Formats: sequence, C-alpha cells, structure tokens
Amino acid sequence: MASRTRVAILISGRGSNMQALIEAARAADYPGEVVLVVSSRGDAPGLSVAREAGVATVVVDHVRFRRENRDREAYDAELHHELTKANIGFVCLAGFMRILSDGFVRKWEGRIVNIHPSLLPAFRGLKPQAQALAAGVKVSGCTVHYVVPELDAGPSIAQAEVPVLPDDTEATLSARILEAEHTLYPQALKTALSRL
Ligand code: GAR
Repeated sequence: MASRTRVAILISGRGSNMQALIEAARAADYPGEVVLVVSSRGDAPGLSVAREAGVATVVVDHVRFRRENRDREAYDAELHHELTKANIGFVCLAGFMRILSDGFVRKWEGRIVNIHPSLLPAFRGLKPQAQALAAGVKVSGCTVHYVVPELDAGPSIAQAEVPVLPDDTEATLSARILEAEHTLYPQALKTALSRL
C-alpha cells in the first residue's frame, strides 16, 4: 500500500473532533495516520485522550509565549518547528483557538484544514452557533475548509447541514452540530489527502 500521509492535529480544548479523526485513521485503508497532537494549552482535556490513544503530544503553550512577550510569529515558528521535526505532511485544526500568522499559513497552504461550526461563508469567527440563532436561520451545520490567511475564508472541502429547532439554545445547537462534525471531518480529511 502507498505510504500514508503523516497528520498532525492542533487542539486547544476538549478534542472530540481530534478523537474522531484518530479513530477514523485507524482503518488500514485510511490515507493518513495521526502521529502528533499539538495543544496550545497545557490543560487541554484532549491531550490525555490523545495519549491514551497512543498518539504523541506536544504543548506549545500560548500563555508562556505571552508571559515571555514573544509574538505570534515566534509562536508560529515554534509550531512549525514541531511539525517539521515530526515530519508532518498535513495539519488539521480541531478547535485550535488561535489565529495563525500569514507566514505560517503560506508555508502549509494546501496542507492545512479547519473545521468550523457553521455553513461557511455564513457566521465566520467566534460563536457561530450563537450567530446562527441570532440570525434566526432554520438550517446550520459545519464546514471543513482549507486554511488561508483570511479567517474562515478558505475553499470548502465538505459541509453537513443540521436543522435549527425552535427551542434550540446555543448548547443544544452546538451539540447537534458537533455530532455532524465527527462524521464530516474524517470524510473531508480523506478527500483532502486523496488530492495530495
Ligand atoms: C468544534 O465545534 C469546532 O468546530 C469548533 O470548536 C469546537 C471544538 O470541539 N471550532 C471553532 O469554532 C473554530 N473557529 P472539540 O475540541 O471537541 O473538537
């Protein structure tokens, strides 16, 4: 079988999408293998999930960088260093709550994707589920897209729709979208890897 692409997943928190990707990539015919999880926070719950799954983890601690007055470029340089050290061929953002510098994104362009809990181009940026509720839409969902320097603006790879129900709160809508994310992300990553 052709060699599988070495995939890194970047997280900041819970890591449920990360877990879905790790599980999907266990299939022998999946075109990528998850070999590294990088967290921007040392206390991200996803870190222990990754370790239990036998995936190497590293923390590039954004609090430490802030304390040391090191800027976004310095942070992203360390991130890039960790990825190249591990011979990574593809990067998945999965709840990674940092804006990446243009320089970093250009280095990885075509080899970095993100999942966002809205039907982009609707509701970019923070709290897209709350934005969807405030807008009164009847359908929302999630998008896996290539990362480009402009936030949440890269070409879409795949989308999944979910209904917005009349009594939805931000929590109930987020949970319904998250369930769709766990199916969509592994499929979309497979698509993106098959294009390399
Ligand atoms: C997911 O809903 C993901 O789409 C969202 O954060 C959550 C992370 O959950 N990402 C963004 O809003 C990015 N702008 P997880 O840590 O359980 O995968």
